[in-house]
Amino acid sequence: MMIPSIDAGNSRFKCAVADVAGNPKLITNRFGEPFTPSAVFFAPDGEIIVGTEAINAGFVEPSRLVVNWKRAMGTDEPLYTADDGTVYHAMDILAILLKDAKDNIEAKTGQVVNEVVITVPANYTDLQKQQTIDAAQKVGMKVLTLPHEPTAAALGNELYKQSNSTALVYDLGGGTFDVSIVQTKGNVFDIIATGGDPNIGGRDFNDRISEKLLEEFESVNGFRPSEDNHAIFFQEMSQKIEQLKISLSVQAQSQVVLFCQGKQLQMTVTREQFNSWVRDIAEKTIQKTRQVIEDANLDISQIDEIYAVGGGSMMPIVVELLEELICKKISKRCEPHSAAAFGGILSGRLEKQHRGEKYTIGNVVLPAPTTIVHEILSHTIGVLTVNEDNNEVCSEILSKKTPVPSIQTKVFQLGQPNQTEVIIKVLEGEDGKDAGDCLTLGHFELNDLPSRADLIGRIEVTFSLDSNGLLTAKARDIVSGKEEQMQIDYDTKTKQADAA
Ligand SMILES: Nc1ncnc2c1ncn2[C@@H]1O[C@H](COP(=O)(O)OP(=O)(O)OP(=O)(O)O)[C@@H](O)[C@H]1O
Ligand SMILES: [Mg+2]
Repeated sequence: MMIPSIDAGNSRFKCAVADVAGNPKLITNRFGEPFTPSAVFFAPDGEIIVGTEAINAGFVEPSRLVVNWKRAMGTDEPLYTADDGTVYHAMDILAILLKDAKDNIEAKTGQVVNEVVITVPANYTDLQKQQTIDAAQKVGMKVLTLPHEPTAAALGNELYKQSNSTALVYDLGGGTFDVSIVQTKGNVFDIIATGGDPNIGGRDFNDRISEKLLEEFESVNGFRPSEDNHAIFFQEMSQKIEQLKISLSVQAQSQVVLFCQGKQLQMTVTREQFNSWVRDIAEKTIQKTRQVIEDANLDISQIDEIYAVGGGSMMPIVVELLEELICKKISKRCEPHSAAAFGGILSGRLEKQHRGEKYTIGNVVLPAPTTIVHEILSHTIGVLTVNEDNNEVCSEILSKKTPVPSIQTKVFQLGQPNQTEVIIKVLEGEDGKDAGDCLTLGHFELNDLPSRADLIGRIEVTFSLDSNGLLTAKARDIVSGKEEQMQIDYDTKTKQADAA
């Protein structure tokens, strides 16, 4: 049996499998491309097209093309409504992309894929992880593990082979931004802090360039193309912006030519100009990086190496700001594009070992890896309580940076004498934060509790995190012994995530 690793990127899917020595290798798609664009086109005849062909088809009918799925995971935002009324959410788009990856890997390797490793952003919520598992399940793949993208990228860069170093992994993808700090001591690999921003990615740089080019187009031609009336122009412009951005990562200047309604804009864009357009977005990633270093209680001088991964890290402005912050050069050994997919292979082997199962390639059983990875929780989670000022707040049970897997119990009082039922509301948010500003992960009730006049600590809440950081919450009434477990209310979580 073979267990591929899929880096399910907002912009590009990267797939890797292990060879008989356990080394990861990239699987190209059926067009020979190393990465498959995360694009889905719903053709009028009902066919669903994925990848470069989807983007090409989108030039003719942009309204049938779906890209940028990842930020909508865990929300009920519709990404596409088909002619028959079927609504596609991010999870459905992910399922389509995963099915394409599965078909491709099976065609390339001649083996059936029914188990998979999928890398996810470090700050994915519980619901986003659940939906990733569900999407894979929908297309016939069981998820073995969901390693965090920066951790996988660190493993993929063989950072675990370096003893005693502290490295910063900066991962700027197409839709999301993750940072982790990794400490290696011998074969032990500790993630000591993780953070980032799920709403910063290459697409924001593209949006900024789009604004600038439209302004320029208007000042030259006297009108501004609109997405409603000039959809094909916008589709073509997005391709040209992508090319422009990539060219400016290598060259000092590049040309862009845009046509709309018989008018044109011909422009030379220099790297300086590009940098001035996007500097504030790049600076935001640096602020977040600084925050993660602070969370790790480290001084910048304690960072030994920087591993910059993700396509966005190829931008010279990013390299410049990052090297300026850390006062070090980015590691030359770093593989920016495939590292997360590669690292996912090792994560899969580690998970098999953790479960006491064998990891086989054909008839070969791979030896258990000697690496030990200590992952951490990326968000604080707790329950809703009422504080002394009568405000509903989050009371922390598992803090951010708690090692994963983990289990923690805390005991709470009931709110009033003779109370016979209690609702346990599980929140994601810092300790003491207003409950209204936290993300609700779910809720459950303990009913028919024995009535007591005194208020003693009696409701014991236990949070257990599995190795993928997925949460089970249990509550027990110490007096009656009655207990309940959290049933995740997906609808509630979806709405909350959407509103957040
Ligand atoms: N040479 C380059 N210079 C600048 N940007 C680049 C370059 N190569 C790729 N990119 C940008 O990187 C992004 C894609 O990178 P990557 O494949 O790492 O993202 P992803 O993994 O699909 O997204 P995410 O990690 O957010 O899920 C796109 O925004 C793309 O425009
Ligand atoms: Mg990525």
